[in-house]
Amino acid sequence: MASIEPIKQKIYIFGSSQALYKAVASHIAELINKASTTKEYFSLVLSGGETPRELYKILATEYRNKIPWNKIRLYWGDERFVPHDDPESNYRMAKETLFLDKPILSKNVFPMSVDQPTVDDAALSYEKLLKFQFREPWPHFDLILLGLGADCHTASLFPNSSAIHEQKRWVVATEHPLTSQPRLSLTLPVLNQARNIYFLVRGNDKAEALKKATTDPPDPIDCPASAVRPLNGELSWWADGEAAQMIS
Ligand code: 6PG
Repeated sequence: MASIEPIKQKIYIFGSSQALYKAVASHIAELINKASTTKEYFSLVLSGGETPRELYKILATEYRNKIPWNKIRLYWGDERFVPHDDPESNYRMAKETLFLDKPILSKNVFPMSVDQPTVDDAALSYEKLLKFQFREPWPHFDLILLGLGADCHTASLFPNSSAIHEQKRWVVATEHPLTSQPRLSLTLPVLNQARNIYFLVRGNDKAEALKKATTDPPDPIDCPASAVRPLNGELSWWADGEAAQMIS
């Protein structure tokens, strides 16, 4: 019987989403500034959806001059296979918020390209880009931001999907279980090689998923987010009171 290491994680709970965003922004800035004293680049993976929108706006405005933006390389944890100007695009959401007044040099921004013939081609193309940049058996992103779906998915790793079982690929093609929207996603092995992982979780509808995702033992099939356990990195959850209402 393989012993499961007790999950090592920190859970921060805030009385309001504004307090949550301000705290996360401050910690991200601290992480980047600290790493930038020794590293040429800080590799930051953005999450999509709606939750991080306000965080990105705070980083682009209040932290416009408090972060060495020219030392950040930006990536995405997942993407909808739609044009980058589509309202559904995670790249577009970041462009409307984080890139507000261009704090990030475009040469350091690596979106998941969506102009390949198929979503599988797009996954292979992003994987090729990452392998060219990291040149290691696995990439070690400095910080991966993740969201949490009410169904316990994260990135575009959905419950009962084949993508959860992927142990070799860095990027896979998948799809939304309800809309069948084609998606691209980093795989669990890549997420678990990160130096830092921050989950941002807001709202009543995420309470059950947050309870499942932060409780031992992990249940990757039913709750992919529970399988995010960085091997040598730090895992922290940043939640408002509504999302954390089921956590003792
Ligand atoms: C996406 C995300 C996804 C998201 C969760 C939470 O592309 O949608 O990467 O994993 O983080 O679905 O979404 P909300 O923040 O919109 O609740």
